[in-house]
Amino acid sequence: KNQTSCTIVIFGATGDLAKRKLFPSIYNLYTKGELGEHFAVIGAARREWSHETLREKVEDSLKESKIQVNDDLDDFLTHFHYISLNVTSKESYQNLHSLITEVEGKFSIPGNRMFYLAMAPQFFGTIASYLKSEGLTNETGWNRLMIEKPFGHDLPSAKKLNNEIREAFREDEIYRIDHYLGKEMVQNIEVIRFANAIFEPLWSNRYISNVQITSSETLGVEERGGYYDKSGALRDMVQNHILQMVALLAMEPPIRLSTDEIRSEKIKALRALRPISGDQIDQYFVRGQYGPGAVKNQEVPGYRSEPNVDAESNTETFVAGKLLIDNFRWAGVPFYIRTGKRMAEKSTKIVIQFKDMPMNLYYKSNDEVHPNLLIIHIQPEEGISIVLNGEKLDYSPQTTPVKLDYAHNSTDKLNTPEAYEKLLHDAIKGDATNFTHWDEVALSWKYVDEIDNAWQQKKATQFPNYEAGSMGPKESDHLLAQDGFHWWSLDE
Ligand code: BG6
Repeated sequence: KNQTSCTIVIFGATGDLAKRKLFPSIYNLYTKGELGEHFAVIGAARREWSHETLREKVEDSLKESKIQVNDDLDDFLTHFHYISLNVTSKESYQNLHSLITEVEGKFSIPGNRMFYLAMAPQFFGTIASYLKSEGLTNETGWNRLMIEKPFGHDLPSAKKLNNEIREAFREDEIYRIDHYLGKEMVQNIEVIRFANAIFEPLWSNRYISNVQITSSETLGVEERGGYYDKSGALRDMVQNHILQMVALLAMEPPIRLSTDEIRSEKIKALRALRPISGDQIDQYFVRGQYGPGAVKNQEVPGYRSEPNVDAESNTETFVAGKLLIDNFRWAGVPFYIRTGKRMAEKSTKIVIQFKDMPMNLYYKSNDEVHPNLLIIHIQPEEGISIVLNGEKLDYSPQTTPVKLDYAHNSTDKLNTPEAYEKLLHDAIKGDATNFTHWDEVALSWKYVDEIDNAWQQKKATQFPNYEAGSMGPKESDHLLAQDGFHWWSLDE
């Protein structure tokens, strides 16, 4: 228990993330007995709040998250403290230092410190270096830094940021968050693959024809237009969440389930991604931007009319791509990906399509036999389905697809703190498996930067090119059609 007893310092405690995800997650960990009594949370931000204000906000956040609070709430709140600070002033860190020492004494915490940066990334470097120079990263316990995305906006900026934080923290003290890695079914990819003898032997170019990853959203950019317009779907979703899913699907089995072994296999998979050169870009990647339309029967404006978005913006709100992985296992198997805002459904799904049988015995009654599919439902349903073929009762032998479903709807879990709760729990325990190593970040940026460079050379002239509420521009279908495939529908 001593190892999990710690002080969590949240920079940006007055912000949205703290309210929506962090406070509820910390409460859940507390009621489940994961935090014990020897912990404290220090909220830090610019605003002049008192300890009491923070406690009230924490209580509000639990109510808003519809979390069932018990009679342990009052005790829980006594663990929260607040400090108003200016992240660029040395004096602020000295004050923070005194407060940490005070709460460590009050709750008998053995000096373990978790610094959670839930704020604008331009300050990550400054904060890290002050934490070190002002002696906040102590030597009596562990020190960990948890950071939110975006980790840079391209490889050079990510490198710069990484160098800055590495001045103060070692790689094994840095927990870079990719909240998709906290999702139950993303974590399950490993189990599906490595604990089921019926899948792993088929998991290669011998039996798999293609892999499709869709992560579609119905929301637009909401109040984040300023950030999003500089980022776009490629940086916002592909560099991190989508490439992480690709790595988990494509990696070799690790020799054991340790953080280092798993990460090193993921890194190898990312290293095998075939770079896309500028002149080939249109064969491999499609970008889109939504115009006005209707999502679930609700009229919505086009991207260029969203708040804080340039009226002539060329930022993509949709990406589809064909990724190739140049290694023995995957040579020749396309991994198709697509993600976008204001699409028809909110859904994240992976479809593994198996190759056809060597010949079709049912050609007299079936032109084609349905391919076998393994579908991993990440959200809103969670689970897996397998599409097989059965006999259709008729006079001549005819096949019909049948589906084995092991999935449950978890719509009520969307936007719950669950992923954050898991990630915080892991970080407090010192398990970095579900966080991204620097090498993964760097390789992902390298891959994405080439696509972005190719796009920069050729401005998108056709934007907007998909209607809000659709599944993206038609070119996204051509990507697969050129290889003889099509996107499996999200109802599959
Ligand atoms: C975030 C992106 O990383 O992921 C958002 O910045 C996106 O733009 C979100 O909406 C999607 O996450 P989820 O968990 O709702 O699929």
